[in-house]
Amino acid sequence: MFVDRSMDNYSEMIRLNIESLTALTHHFATRMVHRGKGRILNIASTAGFQPDPRFAVYGATKAYVISFSEALHKELENTGVSVTVLSPGATRTDFIDRADMHDAKVFEGNVMTAPQVADVGFRAMMQGKLHVVPGLTNRIMALLSSITPPGKLRLAIADKVMQRKKD
Ligand SMILES: NC(=O)c1ccc[n+]([C@@H]2O[C@H](COP(=O)([O-])OP(=O)(O)OC[C@H]3O[C@@H](n4cnc5c(N)ncnc54)[C@H](OP(=O)(O)O)[C@@H]3O)[C@@H](O)[C@H]2O)c1
Repeated sequence: MFVDRSMDNYSEMIRLNIESLTALTHHFATRMVHRGKGRILNIASTAGFQPDPRFAVYGATKAYVISFSEALHKELENTGVSVTVLSPGATRTDFIDRADMHDAKVFEGNVMTAPQVADVGFRAMMQGKLHVVPGLTNRIMALLSSITPPGKLRLAIADKVMQRKKD
């Protein structure tokens, strides 16, 4: 639950996922625009396509990454600099422990590996794509979120997806 984690923990997450990503993008985009070429790949998550009960802050930071990257993609389109946003679903990395998701049901079953996700992201970045979601299941989930209007139904679906084993 939101109230089970400390505000320090949320502040660190917001600094890492929002502030640092914005600062790094600003640093490199400035130089890329100046030289007239470059490629930016920002890492969001399928958690950013809708609000996520149990992971409210994480999901909101990733919604920021998606919104920010989409806007920059358009803004920089005639500068030679492309902005791609990679939104992985559950992927087997150290993140599972770090984000306290070891008992989240989304990590059950056939979860993608980091090299698979990186490969899809790299290729999309080199093609200058706007969005890339690795894996068919993740693409279906992302599509479902985008066609379900904001409201109780979308929240109910997200709640189910983000369930912990003990829920
Ligand atoms: N794994 C998933 O299921 C999943 C799904 C969707 C999106 N993502 C996103 O993919 C990205 C990479 O995550 P991952 O799965 O590879 O997780 P990870 O294995 O935990 O790696 C996270 C990386 O972020 C660095 N990091 C963490 N806290 C930091 C801090 N306070 N300051 C500076 N660096 C920090 C870590 O550096 P150190 O190792 O040096 O601490 C590490 O290199 C993240 O943006 C995550 O939100 C992951």
